[in-house]
Amino acid sequence: MEVIRMTDQEFKKLSILIYEGYGIKMPVAKKVMLEGRLRKRLIITKMSSFTAYCNFLFSKEGMKNELIHMIDVVSTNKTDFFREPGHFNYMTDFLLLEFQKESRGKPLNIWSSASSSGEEAYTIAITIEEFYKQNKTFDYSVFCTDISSEVIKKGVQGIYDESRISNIPLNIKKKYFLKGKEGNNNKVRVVPELRKKMTFNRLNLMDDSYSVPYDFDVIFCRNVLIYFDKQVQERVINKLCNKLKKGGILFLGHSESIAGINVPLETISPTIYRKV
Ligand SMILES: C[S@@+](CC[C@H](N)C(=O)[O-])C[C@H]1O[C@@H](n2cnc3c(N)ncnc32)[C@H](O)[C@@H]1O
Repeated sequence: MEVIRMTDQEFKKLSILIYEGYGIKMPVAKKVMLEGRLRKRLIITKMSSFTAYCNFLFSKEGMKNELIHMIDVVSTNKTDFFREPGHFNYMTDFLLLEFQKESRGKPLNIWSSASSSGEEAYTIAITIEEFYKQNKTFDYSVFCTDISSEVIKKGVQGIYDESRISNIPLNIKKKYFLKGKEGNNNKVRVVPELRKKMTFNRLNLMDDSYSVPYDFDVIFCRNVLIYFDKQVQERVINKLCNKLKKGGILFLGHSESIAGINVPLETISPTIYRKV
């Protein structure tokens, strides 16, 4: 069977849409990847060519109904429980201790701003719950957002393949995950006590300003800036800082930094920053 190909012109049109709408760089080197991912949408929308798909996507109806699915397949959602564990150690050893001393009964409000399917947010919650063993003097909430509606749905459900938690110590698994029954033996679900601390919403980091319920004590924005160029990174971090309390902490991903960009942050350690 002949493989359906995208013309250079179609690729250009799509890459401009993806960059301008979502900040995601789409250089020519990614053409094969984009073709591969969008073929799934061609099948679902019953389009026989990329020309037909582009015509549909750029139509009024496509912009209203298909754009959201297109970005779902284009975005890279790789994540893990306890990914980059140094950040969670920092929370336990410094951030939570400091907050406990100064909170005076106020809750700790955290934003996981590119949350993917929720593993990062649930890891934050587990870290806080484990810290409570020492002394529970404050409450917390985790506000989770992502551009992809599919991963948001997964985060709300909090259901994962058991293999996803294979590296988590047994005592943590037992406390925070319920094993699936009948036909769902290979699945686990995060316990309701943690799920009720989460709010999941769709939010585009490219929006002019962020519609969030309050200013946060801590923001995680990990492993998404790598998809943006420097200008977009600067705009996004400044908008995040507008929603971060003075003295609040921003975590970036392991290969991301604020080097060479103008933002109101001081470096605490590589990838961990405090708002000045
Ligand atoms: C590689 S995942 C990182 C997930 C998690 N933060 C971690 O470090 O494990 C990147 C996430 O960023 C999301 N994303 C990409 N562009 C975005 C945008 N413009 N606004 C919001 N989220 C975006 C993707 O959908 C994806 O779920």
